[in-house]
Amino acid sequence: VRVAVVFGGRSGEHEVSCKSALSIVRFLDRSRYDVVPVRITPGGTWVFGPDAGSPEALDLEGLLDLTKETDVPALASLAEAIGALRECDVVFPAIHGPYGEDGTIQSVLEMVRLPYVGSGVFASAAGMDKEFTKRLLVADGLPVADGVVLRGGTGTVTPAERERLGLPVFVKPSRAGSSLGVSKVDDWAELDDALAEARASDAKVLVEEMVHGREVDLGVLEHPDGSLQVGPPLEISFPDKHEFFDYEAKYLDPTTIFDIPAKLEPAIIERLQDLAVRTFRSLECRGLLRVDFFLRYGTEPVINEVNTFPGFTAVSQYPQMFRVAGLDYPALLDVLIATALA
Ligand code: DAL
Ligand code: MG
Repeated sequence: VRVAVVFGGRSGEHEVSCKSALSIVRFLDRSRYDVVPVRITPGGTWVFGPDAGSPEALDLEGLLDLTKETDVPALASLAEAIGALRECDVVFPAIHGPYGEDGTIQSVLEMVRLPYVGSGVFASAAGMDKEFTKRLLVADGLPVADGVVLRGGTGTVTPAERERLGLPVFVKPSRAGSSLGVSKVDDWAELDDALAEARASDAKVLVEEMVHGREVDLGVLEHPDGSLQVGPPLEISFPDKHEFFDYEAKYLDPTTIFDIPAKLEPAIIERLQDLAVRTFRSLECRGLLRVDFFLRYGTEPVINEVNTFPGFTAVSQYPQMFRVAGLDYPALLDVLIATALA
């Protein structure tokens, strides 16, 4: 099976995508797969063939070095890349954030009838946009945090909304990942700076109540027969110097800890797993989904957000949860690709 691994991309998570792709390329079983790396530069140019790097010799430094821009215009490069992709059996879009995890690349693949790993256009778009994720989940009776949406790059929260949300609040770009542009606001005097920071990523911003409690992730994996497997819950803990699970705590702090399975009452685990599956169905996902929860007061699940293509390095949450469930990284890739081809 010839697998194109598409990575990089235009979002702020370009480097995270390179790391995810590096692990995917490393762990794809070469007795079963031919691997074709395809990268998208931060400027949006598609690169394949020798310039995308040899799958046998990829390393992170090399990958990041390769992300330098080329002279080929983005549109021409896309047309050429589609020709190369059509010689593959399946595409693995290993891109986080806008222009990758949001339905845009999925729509290109749909147009040319190429099977691909993961959610389709709608679920990807809905899962990338925190406002619409919440609207869909609320419509299905699923628990989310209270919040206010500010559109069009302007506006602020009213006194009544401030009263309702209380402090602290979290200010987030509606469409971004890896906590880019997210701040915790402990005093309303800090709100304007937080809004400006979030608006640097997206003109649409969410101001959300803080949910006090533990932070727990669940993974859902679709098998080729359509059945869903939910991994064991993973609890995140990080040192107090981080105000929340921010970019630094996620990627740069070696003392951040994932506890799998999280030490929780069986009834709470059952409830989390049920909510994770209902979230997958509610958004009409395919292939995989990581659902990130807070446990209000340690017991009451609140869905914080979803990731249709969660971090995928060997030490990222999703692959680790499934390793504990008995599927090591190469076996997890086998399931994802078999489901994409089913
Ligand atoms: N958006 C990052 C990659 C994550 O969800 O893990
Ligand atoms: Mg995310």
